[in-house]
Formats: sequence, structure tokens, C-alpha cells
Amino acid sequence: MLIGYGNVGRALARLLAQKRAEFAFQITGIHTARHGTAVSPQGLPVEPEFGPPAGSIGEFLDAAQADVAAELTTLNPATGEPAISHIRAAFARGLHVVTANKGPIAHAYADLRDEAARRRLEFRFESTVMDGAPVFNLVRHNLPGVRVLGFTGVLNSTSKLVVDAMEQGGTFEDGLVLARRLGVAEADASFDVEGWDSAAKTAALANVLLDARTTPQAVSTRGITRLTPERVRALASDGKTVRLVSRARRSQAGLGLRVRAEVLPKTDLLACVHGTSNLLLLHTDLMGTIGTISVSPGVEQTAYGVFSDLVDLARRL
Ligand SMILES: NC(=O)c1ccc[n+]([C@@H]2O[C@H](COP(=O)([O-])OP(=O)(O)OC[C@H]3O[C@@H](n4cnc5c(N)ncnc54)[C@H](OP(=O)(O)O)[C@@H]3O)[C@@H](O)[C@H]2O)c1
Repeated sequence: MLIGYGNVGRALARLLAQKRAEFAFQITGIHTARHGTAVSPQGLPVEPEFGPPAGSIGEFLDAAQADVAAELTTLNPATGEPAISHIRAAFARGLHVVTANKGPIAHAYADLRDEAARRRLEFRFESTVMDGAPVFNLVRHNLPGVRVLGFTGVLNSTSKLVVDAMEQGGTFEDGLVLARRLGVAEADASFDVEGWDSAAKTAALANVLLDARTTPQAVSTRGITRLTPERVRALASDGKTVRLVSRARRSQAGLGLRVRAEVLPKTDLLACVHGTSNLLLLHTDLMGTIGTISVSPGVEQTAYGVFSDLVDLARRL
């Protein structure tokens, strides 16, 4: 069952329909905020007929009778709600959960992980950072025995589009307009350029990979809002650029988490990703530094991350 049927939910439904011959998933229920609720134990089509919304999330979960709930509702960066409550309600009914919503991972990961484990349920969230590119599942499946010591990431698309636009002679606003047109800016783009999107991703990565038990508010964050076209072009003529960089480092003083607009040589690995492309480097004890890069991902890749979690989870049941 899907909770939320927007860009990601619909892309997931299309992907499940496309792959049904090989992967026999059925969507038995879809619940939204304003578009209503649809339930069918025989499986719903990609364009179902919605009836009135279920009276509560519990009522929907009871009606849809699925094995797995996919939480795909809108991100609330400040609290992670109501997605956290949706996930808890699903666990309480014995459902495994997959989510693309980073709010619950950034705000309540350890509690949700422990609750799932107590109930012997699976909880997956690959798409919450870098869409479908393997990050959490890379560590889970391919790096046995490895301890992640820290990470460095360029994870926000809008800020890169803004810097690229200014380098090419445009304004800050030109970059924001392009980000909105590509559908990658958050509804409130200040969330991107002030660094809160990167802070939420940093907190989510730290919670999962470094057992940080932190929140986005605890990440030391400064965005790109003070950058001007003049400054960006002066740096460019000097062979440099700016990237909004997420960093996590363990030290004697504890775990340091920060997001900063950093000036980098254009040849730096972190400077080589543009637009919607993202890069994450994991610093580890046994594998040195290892990275994941995604080149111009779209919503289909986000949906693929949810799909890969569903397949992996189903193989374990
Ligand atoms: N889009 C991406 O490329 C991308 C990438 C990575 C992660 N994500 C994450 O994936 C999630 C979904 O993104 P999206 O782009 O699909 O968002 P979206 O297009 O805004 O769709 C959100 C859906 O959630 C529903 N919803 C909101 N509040 C709800 C509630 N309280 N109860 C039930 N349904 C509720 C909405 O209902 P209505 O249809 O009635 O409004 C809508 O169907 C977000 O958390 C986002 O951060 C997205």
C-alpha cells in the first residue's frame, strides 16, 4: 500500500506495472491528503478511481491489507511528521515499511529502527538520500565488516544550479527558476539555498551510518544565500567554484556534522558534479574512501530506490 501518491508514488506505480511479469507486487491501497483513498485487494491500476479519504491512517492501513507500507508523503523538514506517525501505525499492524521521505530518518531513525527490530519487521529508506543510487544498501550488502568513520557529500541540486547559473552570467534567481522548472527545488526554495535540505540529508546519513541520533537542527549549517554573481565569477576566473558540502567527521570531541558553501578548485572531485547530479564519499576503516555518484537522476530513479528496497525486503520474507 502507498501512503502518498504524488511524483514518487506515481513513478513507483508505473515501475511496478512495467516490471510485474518479473516482480509480482500488487498495490492494494493508495491514500492521499486531498485526492482521496483507493483500496482493492485484487490490485489497483496506475490511474485508480479514488473514493473519499479514509477517516484516519489506521482505518486505511486496516482496509488495504498489505504486507508492506510505502510512506511517500510530503517532507516536513522541521519534525518529520506526520510520516513518523504513519510509519509507527504501520509497524503497529505488523507491516514492513519502505520510505522515500527523509524526515523520519533525519528525526527519528534510531527509535523506528529499534521498533521495527522488536517487532521483527523490515524498515528501508534507500531513496531518502541520492534517490535510487545505492548508499545505505551499499553499506548493508557490499561492505561487510566495514566501519563508516565519516562522509563528504554534495547532495543538494538547487544550490548547484544556482552556482552554475551565476558562473554562466546569470543571477541567483535565474538558478532558482531553472531548479523550479526541473522540479528539483523544494516548494520553499530557501530550504535548499539556506542549507536545510543538505542538513536533513546529513542528519539522515549520520543517523544510519554513524548511529548519531541527531536531527537536522543539530547540524552546523550555513547555505549559499550570501553568494553574489560577482563573487562566483571572480572565483571562476581563478579556476575555482562553490559547492554546498555536507561533512561528517568523528574526532576526540565527538561527531562533527556541518554543511557549508565551500570554495573548491574546479578540478576537485566535489566540484565535478553539476546540476542535479550528486556525489557522496564514505570514509571507512577497511575500504578507505569509497563513493557513489548519480548523474542527472530524476523521479524514476527515486522510485527505483523504493523498488529496490521492496525487492530486497521481499527476498527476506
Ligand atoms: N520528487 C523527488 O524527486 C524525490 C526524491 C527523493 C525523495 N523524495 C521524497 O519523497 C516523498 C514524496 O515526494 P513527492 O515528490 O512524490 O511529493 P508530492 O508530489 O508532493 O506528493 C506527496 C503526496 O503525499 C500526500 N500526502 C501529503 N500529506 C499526507 C498525509 N498527511 N496523509 C496522506 N497523504 C499525504 C499528498 O496527497 P495529495 O495528492 O492529496 O496532495 C501527495 O499524494 C517526499 O518526502 C520527498 O521528500 C522525493
